[in-house]
Amino acid sequence: MMKPFKAGITGTGSILPEKKLTNSQLESIVETSDEWIVKRTGIRERHILEDDVPLAKIAAEASVKAIEDAGLNPVDIELIIASTCTPDYLTPSLACTVQGEIGAKNAAAFDVNAACTGFVYALQTGRQFIENGTCKNILIVSAEALSRATDFTDRKTCVLFGDGAGAVILSKVDDGTGVEEACLGAVGDNADVLTLPCLYASDADIEKRNEGKKQVLWMDGSEVFTFASRIMSEATKNVLDSAGNEMGQIKYIFPHQANMRILQNAAKRLDVSMDKIYSNLEYTGNISSASIPVCLDEASKKGLLKKGDKIIMVAFGGGLTYGSALLTWSK
Ligand code: ACO
Repeated sequence: MMKPFKAGITGTGSILPEKKLTNSQLESIVETSDEWIVKRTGIRERHILEDDVPLAKIAAEASVKAIEDAGLNPVDIELIIASTCTPDYLTPSLACTVQGEIGAKNAAAFDVNAACTGFVYALQTGRQFIENGTCKNILIVSAEALSRATDFTDRKTCVLFGDGAGAVILSKVDDGTGVEEACLGAVGDNADVLTLPCLYASDADIEKRNEGKKQVLWMDGSEVFTFASRIMSEATKNVLDSAGNEMGQIKYIFPHQANMRILQNAAKRLDVSMDKIYSNLEYTGNISSASIPVCLDEASKKGLLKKGDKIIMVAFGGGLTYGSALLTWSK
């Protein structure tokens, strides 16, 4: 049954911290080279949050930009869903801290954690509150400080990650635009290929890490790579089929920005040109759940997205998790 209204993206905002970490700087930290990193990942630099800046600060700044872009005031926001796997605090949640910082006093607030898939999980969750009539305007903010959970003596991971925040406003729209379909999934029995312990760590997880480095991200890169290469194309096809659309109708795919080779593999499997695949990882690295909303904000500000354009967002991440969403741009 056709719904009378949908949840559309009506505003975007993002922040990449000013401080940068280049490949050549990494050459002086671990045994690596600019050539290896560019060839194997496509990354040239990443942005790093200064030590004395809470993640919530850039999350709040990106949120304010998105609210302004949507032509709203913080008091118009009825719900804040934040996604992060690198929060400043477990409690208060990132969403509550943002709520207080920006003065969104009418908003309920909670966090979701689906690692790099967090934004797609948050979008699909937020969409339900709009479609069932509970809310008219929701803020979704994804912010990550992966540099704070990175072991800078482990060359297999430290070259990959960066920090940043991206936000969107999800509003009730009745013009045929908005989220059309989304699919979410998880493969919990593969959880141990990518872990970031918090208050507890198993003996196996402690053993995998360098001594004294409990709260750092560890992953089996090639296992994650294999999963990502398969799931990015499968999840894209799933959402395309459930929306009854053809790839020719899609203007851009916004994939999670982990590795250029993963994006190239996905493009090949989907038989689409790389021109259709938006990418900024060259200068952001992998910023986990913030990567898709940062890309959306960039593309929107560059004028690449027009009202009525169909796009697909697709992500994979720790958990393992994956998700995709197809929407018609509302702005
Ligand atoms: N510099 C130089 N050499 C390196 C580096 C480095 N930074 N890192 C690894 N190597 C070496 C390895 O030691 C290995 O050497 P060896 O053969 O002598 O043992 C060689 O390069 C090849 O290593 P691989 O791990 O096989 O390299 P691969 O081509 O698979 O690339 C990478 C590794 C980039 C990590 C890749 O596997 C990858 O991108 N995986 C996906 C990771 C990902 O996307 N994670 C996202 C989820 S994150 C989240 O959810 C929070």
